[in-house]
Amino acid sequence: MSDRTAILAIDQGTTSSRAIAFTREGMALAVAQEEFAQNYPRPGWVEHDPEVIWATVLSTARKAVSAAQDLGYAIACLGVTNQRETTLVWDRATGRPIHNAIVWQDRRTAKTTARLEAQGHGAMVLEKAGLVLDPYFSATKLAFILDTVPGARERAERGELCFGTVESFLIFRLTAGRVHVSDATNASRTSLYDLVAQDWDDDLLALFDIPREVLPRIVDCAERYGDTDPSVFGEAIPITGAAGDQQAAAIGQACLEPGEMKSTYGTGAFMLLNTGPAPVISRNRLLATTAWRLNGTSSFALEGSVLSAGATVQWLRDGLGIISRSSEVEALARDADPDSGVYLVPAFTGLGAPHWDADARGLLSGLTRGAGRAEIARAALDSVAYQTRDLLDAMAADGADVARLKVDGGMVVNDALMQRLADLCDSEVIRPRNAETTAWGAAFLAGLGAGLFSAISDAAALWQADRSFTPAMEAGHRETLIAGWRAAVKRARM
Ligand code: G3P
Repeated sequence: MSDRTAILAIDQGTTSSRAIAFTREGMALAVAQEEFAQNYPRPGWVEHDPEVIWATVLSTARKAVSAAQDLGYAIACLGVTNQRETTLVWDRATGRPIHNAIVWQDRRTAKTTARLEAQGHGAMVLEKAGLVLDPYFSATKLAFILDTVPGARERAERGELCFGTVESFLIFRLTAGRVHVSDATNASRTSLYDLVAQDWDDDLLALFDIPREVLPRIVDCAERYGDTDPSVFGEAIPITGAAGDQQAAAIGQACLEPGEMKSTYGTGAFMLLNTGPAPVISRNRLLATTAWRLNGTSSFALEGSVLSAGATVQWLRDGLGIISRSSEVEALARDADPDSGVYLVPAFTGLGAPHWDADARGLLSGLTRGAGRAEIARAALDSVAYQTRDLLDAMAADGADVARLKVDGGMVVNDALMQRLADLCDSEVIRPRNAETTAWGAAFLAGLGAGLFSAISDAAALWQADRSFTPAMEAGHRETLIAGWRAAVKRARM
């Protein structure tokens, strides 16, 4: 294989679509990114237009491919990674969606999951799917579409409709409708998939009222699913890797052995701890999830999902208007009185792990006449660190022995926040040199599926640390701050 080999990663995220062409050593040759509109049809509802998702993927992927080709590289294969749980249903014959994509943050099915919980179904869902009952996951979103679009349920039962998470929809479109698959990591976020049996589960399908005919075929994270239709790039490129974005980031961060952990700070924050060949069913409201599946064998992770991290800074910008660019938050927070006692609980769409409270709402507490923009900005950043701390405590209660935390995502360029994270979590925090961990994880899987790499362990040799942050806060001070945070969270849940 020539060393002018490149791998294309498509990273379809919550607020933007990105495409990156990598060398096989993990160097980004070309990056293209497009933000797209979020639709909020009602309070608590969040939708994306599937055609906009597709259009932005197509244009960013084409840009990255042609930029890499201009540098003399040939694209050997392509991997897809994506915002998880977001639910699409489309016509199998035409590829046309029958409803907007219902985004992972969407809370419209909170009543359904509360009812199922009250009926006592939580234990079965937790044991089989590894997940709590919450509107976050795909199953109730899919049922909502089947029940509200006229004729959809009957059409689904006749096999005329396809359900998929975003990677499934993109692979379907990239192959011009020839391939309807979902990789095991994305399947593990639906609440319809049995982690150990590695297949859709009849009891879960019955509970959520989902006809099997609508579901994709579940595949490994690295194998040749099909080739892109020549209409996409002018040539057929093998599609050889797929994983949900948090799982891809864990691979990009080389969390390959049990006990290794990463936390990614994007729209939300997602902490994944590698638990090896068997799922650890959490007793502390964390999630068991598939980390990857290769050659038919799964590895698992324990996950803590925080619904609002970067989204909180976006709210400072778009909702409150106290900054005009997200990057301004670090400087503003630096001016804050460190002992202001202001807390911001960013429960804009409820609270995720470990609370799973869809009805909690955002809260600013501890305001005095001395509190201003700077104190609110600092409280917003601190909320990211406190929520990470809550996840670490839940992981420890589940028996995890966590030595260090690898971090990535847009927010980790903020040195002050990283130090705060180390201080409040009382844990070493390590930032990698390669900032593109999610896309690189998808590219690595594609390279594995195409035979450019020989084993998942190859990812370890390609990971390098950039900087490490060590805890420097006095223990008593930390405990006081954390107690204040817990009191604020309690109020947000009343
Ligand atoms: O579970 C949701 C997650 O996959 C979204 O990730 O990076 O698009 O916020 P991101």
